[in-house]
Amino acid sequence: MLTRDAHGAVVGGISLVELLRDGAIETPAYVYDLDAMEAEARALEAGFEGRPHLVAYAVKANSAGPVVRALARGGCGAEVVSGAELAVALACGIPPERVLYSGVGKLAREIDGAIGAGNRGIHAIQMESVEEIARVEARAAALGRRARVSIRVNPGIEADTHAHVATGHDEAKFGVARADLAAAWEALARSPHLDLVGLSSHVGSQLTATGEYLAAAEVLLALAVDRRQAGARFEFIDFGGGFGVDYGAGCPVKPADFARAGAKLLDASPLAALELVVEPGRSLVAAHGALCASVISAKRSITITGEGDRRWLIIDAGMNDLIRPALYAARHRIEPLDGDGVPAATAPAYRVVGPVCESSDDFGAHPFDAVPERVVIRDVGAYGFTMASEYNGRALPTEVFLRGGRVDSIHASPGVDAWVAQRLGTV
Ligand code: LLP
Repeated sequence: MLTRDAHGAVVGGISLVELLRDGAIETPAYVYDLDAMEAEARALEAGFEGRPHLVAYAVKANSAGPVVRALARGGCGAEVVSGAELAVALACGIPPERVLYSGVGKLAREIDGAIGAGNRGIHAIQMESVEEIARVEARAAALGRRARVSIRVNPGIEADTHAHVATGHDEAKFGVARADLAAAWEALARSPHLDLVGLSSHVGSQLTATGEYLAAAEVLLALAVDRRQAGARFEFIDFGGGFGVDYGAGCPVKPADFARAGAKLLDASPLAALELVVEPGRSLVAAHGALCASVISAKRSITITGEGDRRWLIIDAGMNDLIRPALYAARHRIEPLDGDGVPAATAPAYRVVGPVCESSDDFGAHPFDAVPERVVIRDVGAYGFTMASEYNGRALPTEVFLRGGRVDSIHASPGVDAWVAQRLGTV
């Protein structure tokens, strides 16, 4: 969480002004508080009140090794969506039996990696379609191993969130639709190498109420009870992730509220002995990352009617470094990095924009008393760096990891020379 002292913004007990002093670290730079992320994981644990559970951290939110290791120390397993994410999770010390693998387009070699991990493969490969059941069966047969699978059910629930991150409705590509489940059970019955160990769903991201999450959980529970009567032997039920965070406009529910409500529902069902899996990404890391940027220039222009003017603050971080505002119209608070306070909402508004040649490279209007030297963009620990690109010949940004009030490690930007060499084919 970002706080302020007399000099400016502070993350993880470190003054960002000190951190960037004399160009020691170049902007744009993401700065993460690993202690706070670990504490976030422990706080979520409390919501389960001792019942069997697994917090499978959605690695896509922030896949940096130091972050994944911190969350593993905080008790998390992992939810991954590619062979590369699986490799990161395993290398960060998460045992295969605490990893779930989702995603509609798993490659044969990625499936092989999941089946082949450890003695018995990962916790479960999540089947996103009836067709995928046959693909995984074929890979398990080829490897001469059994594969542990779960069915990701598309519960047909429209979550109240941005359309791009709603995943549990009829038009979404994810999961097995309820009407296709009979075919899925049949396909499983025809698959001698597959063990069905769980059911899962994920209805969407940045949920700011528990209603739809629990509605999906109830659908899943009813299905699991029904299948158990038909002989299925489930080990877990997975209600998914999506726990919302406060980006400045408030979020009335805490991650532990989702856990507690899910646990209560499960405890009251005939399946109370099952392990409860949840798959949070954003809520464990978003608030504990900040993006530091330098102001390249301010720009002021008069509108064509001459009636007003426009003020821009052009910074050295762009939509390639943080795409959430461009992609989801997301609003992240932006403040001066230096100075003892944040400007009042009534201070002059500047549109903060990056250098990328797109009108959507725009982080929204934010108040500033004067043109600052540097700014900090808040709550970017999730889906910030992991969605970054090199568009417009821009290098991926630097990442700084803080622990115990010190710099723990730095992943330096590859720099633009590396970009040039790659484009020219000289590397
Ligand atoms: N499980 C599955 C199957 C998922 O697809 C996702 C996110 C999660 C778990 C974790 O959801 P979370 O707890 O982080 O909300 N890039 C977007 C978010 C995309 C989420 C994709 N799936 C953003 O920046 O808002």
